[in-house]
Amino acid sequence: MTDAIGYERIGDIAILKAQNPPVNALGYDVRIGLMQAMDRAEADGAKAVLIYGDGATYFAGADIREFGQTPREPILPDVCDRIEASPLLVVSAMHGTALGGGLEVALSTHYRIAVPSAKVGLPEVLLGILPGAGGTQRLPRVAGVEAALDLITTGRHVKADEALKLGIVDKIEDGEPREIGLAYTQELLDRNAPRRPVSEMSTPAPVDFDAVHDAVLKKGRGQLSPATAVRAVQAATELPFKQGLARERELFMELMNTDQREGLIHAFFSERAVGKLPELKGVDPRPLNAIGVIGGGTMGAGIATAALLAGLTVTMLEMSPEAAEAAKGRIAGNLQGALKRGKISAEQFETLTEQALTLATDYAALKDADLVIEAVFEEMDVKKKVFTQLDEICKPGAVLATNTSYLDVNEIAAITKRPADVIGLHFFSPAHVMKLLEVVVADQTAPDVVATGFALGKRLGKISVRAGVCDGFIGNRILSTYRTCADHMILDGASPYQIDAALEAFGFAMGPFAVADLAGLDIGWAVRKRKRAEGLHPQARDSTYADKLCEDGHFGQKTGKGYYDYAAGPKARVPNPDVMPLIEAERAAQGIAPRDFTDEEILRRYMASMVNEAAKVVGEGIARRPLDVDMTLLFGYGFPRYRGGPLKWADLQGLPDLLKDIKSYAQEDPYFWEPAPLLEKLVAEGRTFDDLNKEAAA
Ligand code: CAA
Repeated sequence: MTDAIGYERIGDIAILKAQNPPVNALGYDVRIGLMQAMDRAEADGAKAVLIYGDGATYFAGADIREFGQTPREPILPDVCDRIEASPLLVVSAMHGTALGGGLEVALSTHYRIAVPSAKVGLPEVLLGILPGAGGTQRLPRVAGVEAALDLITTGRHVKADEALKLGIVDKIEDGEPREIGLAYTQELLDRNAPRRPVSEMSTPAPVDFDAVHDAVLKKGRGQLSPATAVRAVQAATELPFKQGLARERELFMELMNTDQREGLIHAFFSERAVGKLPELKGVDPRPLNAIGVIGGGTMGAGIATAALLAGLTVTMLEMSPEAAEAAKGRIAGNLQGALKRGKISAEQFETLTEQALTLATDYAALKDADLVIEAVFEEMDVKKKVFTQLDEICKPGAVLATNTSYLDVNEIAAITKRPADVIGLHFFSPAHVMKLLEVVVADQTAPDVVATGFALGKRLGKISVRAGVCDGFIGNRILSTYRTCADHMILDGASPYQIDAALEAFGFAMGPFAVADLAGLDIGWAVRKRKRAEGLHPQARDSTYADKLCEDGHFGQKTGKGYYDYAAGPKARVPNPDVMPLIEAERAAQGIAPRDFTDEEILRRYMASMVNEAAKVVGEGIARRPLDVDMTLLFGYGFPRYRGGPLKWADLQGLPDLLKDIKSYAQEDPYFWEPAPLLEKLVAEGRTFDDLNKEAAA
C-alpha cells in the first residue's frame, strides 16, 4: 500500500482516507492507493467503503503536474470504473473542493454526502482539457444534460446546496467528513440501500448539441476545450455507457495534445508562482488596515472601491469638498454594481459608503494611514508636490505609493526623505474589476515595502507582478511597442479594422484600435506629445494621423467617435469614415506606396514585436521571469489565456523562427526591430523562455 491512501476498518465499513497534501490531487500514488485499498476492502469482508479526504479537501482533481507526461497506469478512468464496479456499497464524504477528477471519483461512488461549505465542479475546460474520467458520461445521467453542459463548459464551482438540488450530492450534513460519512454509510447499510452505479442509470435525453457547440465556441473566442466537451456530453446521449467513455477518452487525448492545453496549464501555475519571489522569503509585510487614496477620478475611485470591498478603511483626499463628494458618488456607483451582483448586502453597502469611507480635503487626514496611494494627474511636478506633502504628514513606516503608469518612481521617491518607503502600485482601470497590479520596485524600496505591496494585492484579490522602473514598466512598455508596430503596418498599407479583426481572431477580446477607443485616444496622444518633446530617435518612424482625430475632438467611445463610430452604441463599432482618408493623406505625405498585408503577416509582426520587447524587459531585469510578463499581458491586456502569454506562445512557436522573422523585418527598419539580446542568447543556446522560469523556481 502507498501512504497516499490511509486504510481503517470500523465495523462493516472500510474507510479510505486520501492523504496527499495540499489538495489530495489524484497523482499516481493516490490512484494506485485507491486500487489497492478497494482490493483490500473487498478481501477484508467489509460491506461498505467510505472515501474521504484528509486536510483541507476531498480530491481537488487530477495531478496537473503529470499532464503532458506519458500516463502511468492505473489511469483515473480505470480507477473510477473499478470503484463503481465494486460489489460493496461505496460512499463519498466531501468537503473543501471536489473538482475535476475528484468529482469524477465521487460520481463513481454510489452515494455522496457533503458538508455545507463543500463545492463541486468539473473545471477541466479551464485547463484546456475535458473531464476525462467519466465526468461527461456520468454527470448528465445524474444531473441531466442541461446542467451537465452548464457545469462542464463553464467549469464553474457549484455550492453544496445547488449540488443537492442537481442530484450530484444526496445529503448535506455539518460536521467532520469522516464522521458524517460513517454515519451516512451506516444508515445506508441499515436500510439495505442498493448499490447505485451511475453507469447503469438511463441514457439522458439529447438537446440541440450543434447549437450549443457553436455558441460555446463563439463565447470562448477560439478556445477549443469547452466546445469539444459538448461533443463528449453528446456521446452520453447517443452511445451506450462504455462506448461513451471511449469517445470521451478520445476527445480528452485530442485536447491533451494541444498548445491550448499547454498554454492554460502554464497560466494556472504561473498565476500561483507570480507572487512567490525569493527576495520576499521570510520578509513580513507591514500592517495594513487603513489606507489613503489621493484623487477620486475613475482610477482613484476604483482603487478605493477595491480596498473597501476587501475590508480596509479608506480616506479619500480630494482638492475640494465638491470633488470629494463627486469621488464618493463614483465609489458608491461602483459599489452599487457589487450590490446588484449580490456580492454585498444593502447593509454592507451602507457601512462601506458611510463608515469605512472618509472624505477629506486636508492632507492631515492621512496622518494615520498605513499606506497611501496617489492617483492624481500623470505629471511629474504634480506627483512631486503630492509626495512632498505626504513626506511631511504621514506616520513613520507608512507606505507611500504612486499609481503612475509611466513616470520614474525613483525620481518621485527622491523628493522624499524616506525613499525606502516609496513604491509604485500600478492598477488597471477599472481598478475594482481588473485583476492586474504591477508592484513597481524602485532602487531604494525596502523589501518589507515590496512585501506590503504584494500583501495589498492579495487582499484585493489581484494578480500582483513585480516590475522594475522603466518607461511604462512591464505592461505599458510592451504595449507601446506592439502598438507602434500596428501603427507602422497602417502606414505601410494595413487598416486599423483589418488589424483589429486579425487579433480578435487570435483570441484577444478586442483589437488594439478598439482598445484605444475604449481607453480614450487622448491618452496615446499625450504619450506621443511627451515622447516628441523628449526628442524622438532620428530613425524612429512617426505618424500624426491619430493626432488629427484628437485635434478634432474625437477621443473614442467617450466622445462617440474614434477609429470607430459609436452612434449606434458602444458595441456597434462601425468604422469611422474619416479615418482612412487621414491615413491615406499621411501615407502620401510620407511618400509611402501602400501594400497589402495578409492577416497572418499582421499577426506575425504584431506578436514578434511583443515578444521582442518582452524579451528586452526580461533581459534588463524589469521583469524577473518570463512568466511575469505572461501574467501581466494575460491579466491586464486581454491576451488570450489559452495561449499562455506572449512568451509561452513564443516558446510554442519556436524561438529560432521568431528571431528569423525579427531579423528579416530589421532589414527594413533596423531601429524598431533590433533583436533582443536575450532572444538571441536563448536561440544560440537552444533554450526557451520556460527554461528561465524553471531555473528561477529551482
Ligand atoms: N494538481 C497539482 N497541484 C495542484 C492542483 C492539482 N490539481 N490543484 C492545486 N495544486 C497545487 C497548487 O499549484 C498550489 O501549489 P503551490 O502551493 O506549490 O503553489 C497548491 O496546490 C495549493 O493550491 P492553491 O494555491 O490554488 O490553493 P487554494 O486553496 O487557493 O485553491 C483549489 C485550492 C480550489 C483546489 C485550487 O488549487 C484549484 O482550483 N485547483 C485546480 C483544480 C482543478 O482544476 N482540478 C481539475 C484537475 S483536471 C482533472 O481532474 C482532469 C481529469 O478529468 C482527469
